[in-house]
Amino acid sequence: MQVYTFPDPVLHEVCEPVEPGDETVLRYVDNMFKEMYGSDGVGLAGPQVGLLKRMVVIDTDYVTEDEDGELLPSRPLVLINPEIIEHSETKIPSTEGCLSLPGLSVNVKRWEWVRVKCLDADFNEVEHYGEDLFGICMQHEMDHLDGVTLIERADPIARLKALREYRAATGQSARSSHGTGPLMEVDAQ
Ligand code: NI
Repeated sequence: MQVYTFPDPVLHEVCEPVEPGDETVLRYVDNMFKEMYGSDGVGLAGPQVGLLKRMVVIDTDYVTEDEDGELLPSRPLVLINPEIIEHSETKIPSTEGCLSLPGLSVNVKRWEWVRVKCLDADFNEVEHYGEDLFGICMQHEMDHLDGVTLIERADPIARLKALREYRAATGQSARSSHGTGPLMEVDAQ
C-alpha cells in the first residue's frame, strides 16, 4: 500500500461519502492500520492511500498515558462518513505531523473538543466525543476527506514556513495547490 505525499493531487480531492453497507472500502482497513502503526502514526485517511472515500482509521490510545503514566490499550477505530455535530467555542494551538508530509511539524489551530457522528466498521451509527489528541486527530483526518492537509490548514505565515521546510526536507518544489487562498480566512476565529 502506497502512502501518497504532498503535493500529490490525490490529497486535494473532496472525497465521496461511503454507501452504507459498501464493504469494498473495508478491504483497505487492515492495510491502513498496518501502515499507520508501522509509521508510529495515530490516524490515516482514505485519500492518503488513494481511496477517495470518506473513511479514516484512528488509534490515539496506544500513545496516550493514563494518570499513572501507563500507556492505554490500543483502540483501533474506523470512522465512515464522519461529521462534526458539535464543537467547543474556541480553538487551541496544535503542532501536528502527517504521514503525507514526512519530516514536517506544522502549527495549526483546532477545536478544543468535538463531537463526531459517523458509521463504524459494521455500518452502525456511532458518536465519538474527542478532546486532546483524539479530538485533534479526528479533526486532522476529517480535513483529509475535504482535500485539506496541514499546509492548507495552517495560517499564511505558518504555511510559508512549512512549505520552505518541506522543500528543504524532501527536495521537492512543494507548492500548495490551494495557494494562499481564502480557506483560513473563512476559518479564522
Ligand atoms: Ni495527515
